[in-house]
Amino acid sequence: MKLLVTGGAGFIGSNYVRHVLTAHPDYQVINFDKLTYAGNLGNLKDVESSPNYTFVRGDICDRNAFEGLEFDAVVNFAAESHVDRSILDASPFLRTNVMGTHNLLEIVRRRGCALLHVSTDEVYGSTAEGFFNEDSPLQPNSPYAASKASSDLLVRAYVETYKVRAMTTRCSNNYGPYQFPEKLVPLVIINALNGRPVPVYGDGMNVRDWIYVEDHCKAVDMVLHNGKAGEVYNIGSRNERPNIEVIKLLLRKVAQRTGRNEDDLLNLITFVKDRAGHDRRYAIDPVKMERQLGWGPDMSFDQGILKTIDWYISNRDWWQGITSGEYMKYYDTQYGERLKK
Ligand code: NAD
Ligand code: DAU
Repeated sequence: MKLLVTGGAGFIGSNYVRHVLTAHPDYQVINFDKLTYAGNLGNLKDVESSPNYTFVRGDICDRNAFEGLEFDAVVNFAAESHVDRSILDASPFLRTNVMGTHNLLEIVRRRGCALLHVSTDEVYGSTAEGFFNEDSPLQPNSPYAASKASSDLLVRAYVETYKVRAMTTRCSNNYGPYQFPEKLVPLVIINALNGRPVPVYGDGMNVRDWIYVEDHCKAVDMVLHNGKAGEVYNIGSRNERPNIEVIKLLLRKVAQRTGRNEDDLLNLITFVKDRAGHDRRYAIDPVKMERQLGWGPDMSFDQGILKTIDWYISNRDWWQGITSGEYMKYYDTQYGERLKK
């Protein structure tokens, strides 16, 4: 199989590329990525010399960028992915997430190859009780979520209208190695290591459903191989936690792993102005994945969090390279006022 992985230099995409090269040593993988601020070839240093791996720099919005590339299936991770950035400026989200997905749909339509479109539980909006299943209504609340919901609807329309062989996955919050420092889990770990305030939006009681990134990658691979064309699959670990619980757990574990004083790290917690339109709770019902594809997560939350903390402690060069550059402009825009006492 020749696989085109779009967005393969990002957090989940790079973990997925590594997973495929290990799980399917006979596959050829083309990593197609624009290398935005979130894309980083350093995420794949360990596999870059593999004879089965090729990197192509390109934009999924570019109609001509795929000429000369041969592939049987596309797995689409390419996206603008951060909710807070979509609140600052929605335009790149509409361009890549909506127009880019449309361009990919046109390409797979013309070539007759399969597409696995990686989406998110955020398309369902927020729910006070119960769980999102694949038939729950799409009620996105952030510009990011609206752009992903739009892309999902385009996939659906291409399946219905052109019989494109496409599937959509909707996963909950991922954490693990190579996650860009703007997201909650790495942000807490890095700020704790740097002795910086840890910003908690609102009352800290928003609930997210956390999954270790490798478990997500395994699920995507199962859908690619055994999923049914035209179907949607929800992916989640049945691991709901309020943010403040996750943040305290991370700070306690960083203290244990580094020998720092636990109270000093817990004192970094700083409640700040809430995110606009902040979804209160996400909760995925993964029963379709479990029953139809036999998928289930392998990693417990406690183990996964420790693995992740250890990875960030051992890979300071990776995140120091990012947090010393352009990223700090974003950080100051996002947190400068919020963290002023
Ligand atoms: P990320 O921001 O870490 O990576 C996105 C990657 O896409 C980067 O490598 C970037 O360079 C690339 N990219 C962006 N625009 C592009 C374009 N126009 N053309 C080609 N490449 C482009 O994102 P992530 O967290 O790895 O998320 C990957 C996918 O999974 C996204 O579609 C996201 O919506 C979805 N998802 C993420 C999570 C999560 O918790 N992070 C959960 C569920 C679903
Ligand atoms: O649910 C899946 C989604 O999870 C993905 O589709 C998105 O791409 C991914 O970014 C993630 O979205 P969230 O908005 O849930 O993730 P984030 O890490 O930004 O925030 C997690 C929670 O923590 C959320 O309730 C906001 C809160 N938070 C976040 C940051 C960055 C804080 O309290 N403080 C912070 O500094």
